[in-house]
Amino acid sequence: MSKIAIMGAMPEEIAPLLERVENVKKIEYANNSYYEASYKGKALVIAYSKIGKVFSSLTASTLLEKFACDKLLFSGVAGAINPALKIGDLIIADKLCQHDLDISIFGHDFGFVPEGSKFLETDKHLRAIAKEVAKKSSLSLIEGTIATGDQFVASNERKEFISKNFEADALEMEGASVAVVCDALDVPFFILRAISDTANDDAGVDFDEFMVSSAKISANFILDMVEKID
Ligand code: ADE
Repeated sequence: MSKIAIMGAMPEEIAPLLERVENVKKIEYANNSYYEASYKGKALVIAYSKIGKVFSSLTASTLLEKFACDKLLFSGVAGAINPALKIGDLIIADKLCQHDLDISIFGHDFGFVPEGSKFLETDKHLRAIAKEVAKKSSLSLIEGTIATGDQFVASNERKEFISKNFEADALEMEGASVAVVCDALDVPFFILRAISDTANDDAGVDFDEFMVSSAKISANFILDMVEKID
């Protein structure tokens, strides 16, 4: 049977999942907690990684290699770049990039390293399921590019840099690193984010105000998708 990994970066991003799933069993491994659980007959492993690309790579690798998950869904919050995205709206990544990866001094594009690629694409089938779920809800969902970096972005200047160099619609701190792991291990993956702020001067205040409610919107949507995954 298929085993689905669901990960977030912060406790608040997985708490709404743990409230709704059944048969939860906590396992401690590699300085982190993993929760085996079931939902509507589907086997799940749920974890939050801690913030950033390094911790999220470790957790994604563990979910796939130790817990043998064969699909990975990420649920969490993001800062909006695309002005069409309002707080509480959803974005699914069609592709992701690392906005803070920079060896441009050697003539490479921002986000590119030799033997890597500037963008990684998410699984089309999982995206199709998300669009089906969105049709039956009143939530606003767009598909677009998500840029990841080890920075909480709270400046229009940095936002413009990311917009100009990656044409990204939203930004966060884990998606692209999870994508690198899943791509390397050939496991289908899906990245969902609900908007908590617009990555401008007010981002810190907005994040504190909306992170919990937006994380919940994302988590509930992910569980609606789980029902539809074979
Ligand atoms: N996640 C949510 N908002 C963010 C921001 N402004 N920068 C980085 N990650 C985020």
